[in-house]
Amino acid sequence: MKRYINEKFPHLLHGGDYNPEQWIDTKEIWDEDMRLLNLANCNELTVGIFSWAMLEPQEGCYDFSFLDEILDKVYAAGGRVILATPSASRPRWMAEAYPEVLRVSENGVRDRYRVRHNHCYTSPVYRKKVQEINTKLAERYGKHPAVLAWHISNEYGGRCYCPLCEDAFRSYVKDRYEGDIDKLNHAWWANFWGHRYTSFDQVEFPGGNRESLSILGGLTLDFKRFCSHQTIDFMKAEADAVRTACPDLPITTNMMPGFEPINYREMAQVMDVASVDSYPSWHSPQHDRCPYRTAFWFDFFRTMKHRSFLLMESAPGLVNWKDFNKLKRPGMDRLGALQAVAHGSDSVQYFQWRKGRGGAEKFHGAVVDHVGCENTRIFRAVAETGKTLKAIDEVCGTAVKTRVAVIYDWENRWALENSSFFVKADKKYSFTCEEYYAPLWRRGISADIVSPHDDLTPYDLVIAPMLYMTDETTIQNLTAYVEQGGTLYATYLLGMANENDLCYLGGFPAKGLKEVFGIWNEELDTLYPEETVCVRMTDGTEYRAVDGCEIIHAKGAQVLATYESEFYAGSPALTVHSYGTGKAYYQACRDTGELWERVCGDILAELNVLPTLPEAPPHNVTAHLREDGDDQYLFVQNYSDAPIQGLPLRGEWKDMESGEKLCAVDLDAFDIRILKKLS
Ligand code: GAL
Repeated sequence: MKRYINEKFPHLLHGGDYNPEQWIDTKEIWDEDMRLLNLANCNELTVGIFSWAMLEPQEGCYDFSFLDEILDKVYAAGGRVILATPSASRPRWMAEAYPEVLRVSENGVRDRYRVRHNHCYTSPVYRKKVQEINTKLAERYGKHPAVLAWHISNEYGGRCYCPLCEDAFRSYVKDRYEGDIDKLNHAWWANFWGHRYTSFDQVEFPGGNRESLSILGGLTLDFKRFCSHQTIDFMKAEADAVRTACPDLPITTNMMPGFEPINYREMAQVMDVASVDSYPSWHSPQHDRCPYRTAFWFDFFRTMKHRSFLLMESAPGLVNWKDFNKLKRPGMDRLGALQAVAHGSDSVQYFQWRKGRGGAEKFHGAVVDHVGCENTRIFRAVAETGKTLKAIDEVCGTAVKTRVAVIYDWENRWALENSSFFVKADKKYSFTCEEYYAPLWRRGISADIVSPHDDLTPYDLVIAPMLYMTDETTIQNLTAYVEQGGTLYATYLLGMANENDLCYLGGFPAKGLKEVFGIWNEELDTLYPEETVCVRMTDGTEYRAVDGCEIIHAKGAQVLATYESEFYAGSPALTVHSYGTGKAYYQACRDTGELWERVCGDILAELNVLPTLPEAPPHNVTAHLREDGDDQYLFVQNYSDAPIQGLPLRGEWKDMESGEKLCAVDLDAFDIRILKKLS
């Protein structure tokens, strides 16, 4: 059954961020934008993101005339609107009247007005002001026929260290430890370096130490939890104001792939639909990582709500904020945009619709360039994408089916990256999760990206890279999953610390996980960047371990590979253990990717999780499915600069744009074709 973002408009959205306030003195541009909207095959504009100064020029004096006019114009042009709340950038008068709305930096200095995203999430004044403007917007536009959804704020992020926030942090930890300072002392292991607390009043934000170590891991972890919680609480206050006045429209906020400070899974609970801003570095030296890395995060945002998401921002042509702002090669705009749809997006949206004349983003890619007309390469590329979206509109609301899940966990990331061991500077948690997803992507197997507490029973295979922090719930969940027949593939650093970042006693991995995996992990050898350790499978094939090798003991597990060099030569590098009716694999070292590629292929074959294409495609080529009942839609993608001829397909398909019937497909460089299953 199809699920639409908004039943009133059951179509794929194509459009993006529009800042008409920058053109308030040249309104003929607004009319020209409406003409161009149709020529670009676009049907949506996101407005109001940075409009607060225009909507409330003085405290309590509102002027909605510009938004009234724009919404009517977009609707008259056949378009729809995603309407933003303006909290990402407050008006100047507010900072002057209420300095508490501005953030305080870690060194205790309150910032000036200057940038956007510079507000305290705790400030009662800011919360009140935001709720007031949000209520007004929701009351005024909640029933406007153009408005499809609410875009709450913009890319939440950043931290404030003001006294209000520090007080809120004290209350947060007091609640967490039920007012019992001894519980806090134990959880934070506060006798370390004599840091014992005698009262919650002594609790301060962490940081500022000269040893560049996190002195009390539990404190740092709780601080990160608090900052995330406070941001989400602020968002909830914003969303509540909108929902009260306008209960019918869905709510989203735009999130960022790999963003560390906010536990997006918790944030997702406040929204109806997830949305993401995606700016991969196509054609950079990292180009080959981009397709699966980007796909990993699309899968993540789809899994958040287990329904289609929105690609809220992407760059037409280029961005302006990377070290090198390279143009996307012909085809790449369309390919990158439709990749999101392949993974469950029901929109392709851009930042930005039109380039401004001034300001920091005047050279950022846009649908409409400074030349101001439709005769540009980028405009034509956008119009082409729009044409494709119209041709495949029936894909809107369909699902992505998955039999595999990868565990990705914020709290684990915080605890792991914060602990001093292994590679101190960068333990590469996100990178590693993306790398474990890569062989799935190459086979066209989409995955759900789940939390360790999620129900794992729907999956044939669950991959758990670097799950250092495992609380009781996680231990029970993983154990039950394997016991009941699941296949679990975990790697080095599993089960070392509990939810307070206290190490487990009695051997790693924690508690009963030793029995599940049939191993005991005794030591970890960190390798220098240029070092490798030889790993040999029992069939003699050799691979290379990098970064770190755990020295583990098989306690019932079957050894699939051993180290062949170093003083631990002969000890297990990869094991498998039958437990209950399932299997638990343990990879004790990071490898260059080849070992996992091979083992992943073997496991998928054993589980009968088939690649989407009948033959292994060339490098950087893949095909992903969306489905609804009997209908299947195949997105065949070529991320290489070489054309492909005669790529075989499973069964017969119809090209949704040309109508051509196919059993094999040709692709240009940086091309995508979308096919519907015939038989
Ligand atoms: C996003 C932001 C947009 C714009 C864009 C430029 O992070 O939400 O407002 O700044 O980046 O790429």
